[in-house]
Amino acid sequence: MRNADVPADMRLKIAVQKSGRLTDSSLDLLSRCGLKYSRGKDQLMCYGENMPLDVLFVRDDDIPDLVQEDVCDLGLVGLNVIEEKRLAFQAREVGPLFDTVQLLDFGRCRLCIAVPEGFHYEDAQSLQGKRIATTYPHILSRFLKQNGISAEVVVLSGSVEIAPRLGRADLICDLVSTGSTLAANHLRNVHTVLESQAALIRTPMPIPAQKQEWTRRLLMRIDGVEQVKGSKYIMLHAPRSALAAIAKLLPGSEAPTVIPLEGLGDRVAVHAVCPENVFWETLEDLKDAGATSVLVLPVEKMLA
Ligand code: PRP
Ligand code: ZN
Repeated sequence: MRNADVPADMRLKIAVQKSGRLTDSSLDLLSRCGLKYSRGKDQLMCYGENMPLDVLFVRDDDIPDLVQEDVCDLGLVGLNVIEEKRLAFQAREVGPLFDTVQLLDFGRCRLCIAVPEGFHYEDAQSLQGKRIATTYPHILSRFLKQNGISAEVVVLSGSVEIAPRLGRADLICDLVSTGSTLAANHLRNVHTVLESQAALIRTPMPIPAQKQEWTRRLLMRIDGVEQVKGSKYIMLHAPRSALAAIAKLLPGSEAPTVIPLEGLGDRVAVHAVCPENVFWETLEDLKDAGATSVLVLPVEKMLA
């Protein structure tokens, strides 16, 4: 069946943040998975041209709900939002819950306790009896409970950072990535409550049979893209006697491929995929161990 013939309700739907820190990286991930798309006039949806897959652009806070309610099959969203929604759904005894399939290598940020100038913070006990503004009431309440703190959680839907200045709260619990929002509002990060990064989530409902094959392929491609991020392909020549020393130096690689070199007697070519970056120091160590003609190449795709 050609892509254009797939009925709309049989197309996979993936929710992506409309505009924010995850948007570009999310679209980049889908492009690396081979998706070619055109963005509609309303900018709220992308139509996958070469896969039966559509991208819906929504507020990141809405992504877990859309996936939970099976409106979207998949979503790309931060752990901060995932964890807050998971606790909220649990509190309402909603189940079964959406599933976190895999962590993704982008969108890193932290959910932090931040205090205004002049606030004396020593440890969590300094929060006793205070008013804390946040858009993450469930994660904050759990943190307070774990530390035996009794404090008032002031739930806001945005612009948390101005709450202390307006007298609505004594301090805040908010997301920090570059830290510029805190600095601009004369706030200081004193404690990290949650480390966050992007993740892939999927509906708790069974995926209809007609969508299963593309779901499987997309998940495998996403996994492949994540695996090769930072991976390098190393090629070098070395005397056979140096192989053990060289294998030890190749960062994280499994058994390298060893190929005899025609007419060069004892010398062999070594090829290996290293699942992490290869630094100049490693190349220098390889050279000291007897390697020559060392080449390092980026890996574009990998299918395990
Ligand atoms: C967060 C947070 C701050 C900003 C911090 O908002 O509420 O406003 O990011 O980033 P910085 O440390 O780089 O200055 P978010 O992007 O989650 O927006 P949203 O609440 O509208 O989703
Ligand atoms: Zn948000």
